[in-house]
Amino acid sequence: MPANALQLKWASFVKIQEMQLIKNIKVGIIVALFLSLGLMSNAFRADLPESQQQSMPLPMLADTLKKDAETGLVADENLYMVKAQCISCHSSKLIIANRFTRDGWKQKIRWMQANHNLWNLGETEKQVLDYLEKHYAPTASAARRKPLKDIKWYKLEEK
Ligand code: HEC
Repeated sequence: MPANALQLKWASFVKIQEMQLIKNIKVGIIVALFLSLGLMSNAFRADLPESQQQSMPLPMLADTLKKDAETGLVADENLYMVKAQCISCHSSKLIIANRFTRDGWKQKIRWMQANHNLWNLGETEKQVLDYLEKHYAPTASAARRKPLKDIKWYKLEEK
């Protein structure tokens, strides 16, 4: 083999090695990025006061809770009552999208009773509230913001 051909072969061998190296570095950078993102989100979590950390459910936990296929509501022994009382007028999504304390849920029920013809739940109200309090209570990560306080209203004036 002439020396030139050997050199050429060697050069292409080196080239391939370089390309491989660059590819490995790229993969390395992407992995490092993901790792640092994960660490950063953990760091933010650690900044929350302890009380909030405890009330914040792990995202995984929410996924492992069994959901009722028909309504998407969390399955438990009181679900049947919620299905009987709460989803004939509107979708269960209205429940899933909200988080209230037990008292908050009670107020919502009173509000629907006063304005939207919701019937008296009688004995079953306790079961419904037990269920809502257990599965749809406010959490740090999924709650409506607090109502605004000390709002300074002002008049819009035409010029
Ligand atoms: C008789 C009909 C009726 C029944 C039964 C009913 N609701 Fe409602 N509910 C309504 C109406 C009407 C609205 C207002 C919908 C809208 O604003 O689009 C509403 C709204 C809501 C909202 C949203 C409130 C908000 O502030 O945005 C929630 C949460 C809710 N209902 C939960 C429940 C629960 C829990 C039950 C079972 C105890 C229930 N509903 C049963 C009629 C009903």
